[in-house]
Amino acid sequence: MKSKILVTGGLGFIGSHTVVALQQQGFEVVIIDNLSNSSIDVLAGITKITQTTPEFVNIDLRNKDAVIDFFEKYQDITGVIHFAASKAVGESVENPLLYYENNLSTLIYILQQLSKKNKASFIFSSSCTVYGQADNLPITENAPVKKAMSPYGNTKQIGEEIIMDTCKVYPSLKAISLRYFNPIGAHPSTEIGELPIGTPQNLVPFITQTAIGKREQLSVFGNDYPTSDGTCVRDYIHVVDLAQAHVVALKKLMEEEALGKNYDVFNLGTGKGNSVLEVIQSFERSTGEKLPFKIVDRREGDITAAYADTNKANTGLNWRAEHSLDEALKSAWKWEKKVFKNED
Ligand code: UD1
Repeated sequence: MKSKILVTGGLGFIGSHTVVALQQQGFEVVIIDNLSNSSIDVLAGITKITQTTPEFVNIDLRNKDAVIDFFEKYQDITGVIHFAASKAVGESVENPLLYYENNLSTLIYILQQLSKKNKASFIFSSSCTVYGQADNLPITENAPVKKAMSPYGNTKQIGEEIIMDTCKVYPSLKAISLRYFNPIGAHPSTEIGELPIGTPQNLVPFITQTAIGKREQLSVFGNDYPTSDGTCVRDYIHVVDLAQAHVVALKKLMEEEALGKNYDVFNLGTGKGNSVLEVIQSFERSTGEKLPFKIVDRREGDITAAYADTNKANTGLNWRAEHSLDEALKSAWKWEKKVFKNED
């Protein structure tokens, strides 16, 4: 019998790529998504790639009764990958209660249901934001968690603590928090990709929208950082690699005793740091497009540099990122062109 996995936020950017990877590797998937930051059309994209339509349930996970009813109905769910959450840093500063409610109440309601089961696996979308500006690079999982710079970041820190505390008292529950560095790119089929609503806050969607002509030019936030060229350094990871890491982490949790303990955290990155200017160069090189940009002031809250030490994920999960920055940017560009064509 196939294992049945719940993917919350399964129509979102990382969620949809993970659903594809799960289905391609023999899992049966049920998606919960409230479509607050995603489109129902993504379901057709997933179907086209995998020839399988995952079951889709539109409920709001902030509704505790709906969560209880769902788990009552789907008793055969053995694992949950929990993506559903709000992720805009600026918005979280303006509306902290929305973020604490969206990102934490939903987590608690799901864990309450999983804690009743004889056996359950749980994977949490965390972020490298928990490290803040780390003292040492590359960043290992042992680096101290720094005081969060935004309510969004705080929800990831508190979320990890909630899971850790819960796992201590429910040995039947096994969980992993995955700390993502900067996910970019799109599925090579161009059936699914990132769909930012309004003006993109993240670098790569802003780059592709500028190159296609939707935005006039990219603003590079600061060139006076203590890095090789003065611009900030990040670890950009192809979303397809990230999705695959979820599948291996889930399998690891499901293997009896494999983890040795019932809670762990892993960084997911490439291990390479690239500056904003290097990303622009890589984009221009791999796509042949010219990208208009200007240097502007620093963006408040940005850290200088962050990239992952990937040793723990390489050995513990037997996983490593396979795609280069050029490939990831090329796939993001291919996807942008398709989105643009469909909007015409
Ligand atoms: C941000 C969040 C992080 C979150 C992640 C989700 C902050 C401080 N961090 O990461 O918590 O998990 O998004 O994807 O907000 N840049 C420009 N011009 C732009 C946009 C970005 O120069 O128009 C630069 C930024 O200064 C940064 C880099 O590009 O150096 C990457 O920015 P972004 O894509 O927003 O990701 P992070 O800030 O790293």
